[in-house]
Amino acid sequence: MTPVSPLAAPVQSGSLSSPMIVVSGLRKSLRTGSTTVDILKGIDFTISRGEFAAIMGASGSGKSTLLGLLAGLDNPTSGTVTLNGTAISNLGEDKLAQLRGRTIGFVFQSYQLIPTLTALENVLLPYELNGSPEHSDEAHGLARARQLLTSVGLAARMDHYPIQLSGGEQQRVALARAFILRPPIVLADEPTGNLDTANGSHVLDLLLHLNREEGTTLVLVTHDPALAAYASRRITLRDGLVIADEQQTPAPHTFAERGA
Ligand SMILES: Nc1ncnc2c1ncn2[C@@H]1O[C@H](COP(=O)(O)OP(=O)(O)OP(=O)(O)O)[C@@H](O)[C@H]1O
Ligand SMILES: [Mg+2]
Repeated sequence: MTPVSPLAAPVQSGSLSSPMIVVSGLRKSLRTGSTTVDILKGIDFTISRGEFAAIMGASGSGKSTLLGLLAGLDNPTSGTVTLNGTAISNLGEDKLAQLRGRTIGFVFQSYQLIPTLTALENVLLPYELNGSPEHSDEAHGLARARQLLTSVGLAARMDHYPIQLSGGEQQRVALARAFILRPPIVLADEPTGNLDTANGSHVLDLLLHLNREEGTTLVLVTHDPALAAYASRRITLRDGLVIADEQQTPAPHTFAERGA
């Protein structure tokens, strides 16, 4: 009998062309003193279920602001974000938190690990916070957390606290945490920004595995054209506007041997 890996894919329903993220007329302005800064100036796009979209653009072009709005972590000045059929702008805080918990894994540019928890406990946290019955099996959660940490090369670091981890290691813990609940959408802000080639390829393996095998919809902010080449879609921002939105053939990728 073949052992079932905790990373094994659940069957995802819905066709590849159904919209997962719909962004319509999205604007974000901020007042600083007497001036108003228009950070996003009207963004429209639709991302299908199972798509892997790379968001590119110069520093300050609005990428992190856009990702925060997609996750409902911030409110737009105008426009709407619809996730898996639900318009998030009209939801109350409780409903939004619930939807976010079940639908989105978020990897922040600044990791945001809990300093008093070990790597393993950080990865398990969403599992423990999410009270739904399918996440009540502690042994299964633990197995998946260990498998995810192993797959990003942190098998020997599971019991370390964030302060004992390098920036790149913390980034990989944050990535494992984003995937623990098998969210249908993962939003990641520069997930390989701090990684060397070997660890960058671990992370790339994990991202592509989850996108291609588990059908996770992936929106990834990156400055790295080599990473963006693996996406099926490339959206480029400049000064708060989409200046290019192209489908592309993803670069071929050979998965490295998975360690035990
Ligand atoms: N709270 C804020 N108040 C005023 N301006 C802000 C605020 N947050 C962001 N900005 C401005 O909005 C613009 C977009 O910021 P954002 O963080 O989205 O850029 P980015 O594309 O993610 O850049 P980077 O590649 O450097 O991470 C920047 O010019 C930034 O200075
Ligand atoms: Mg940013």
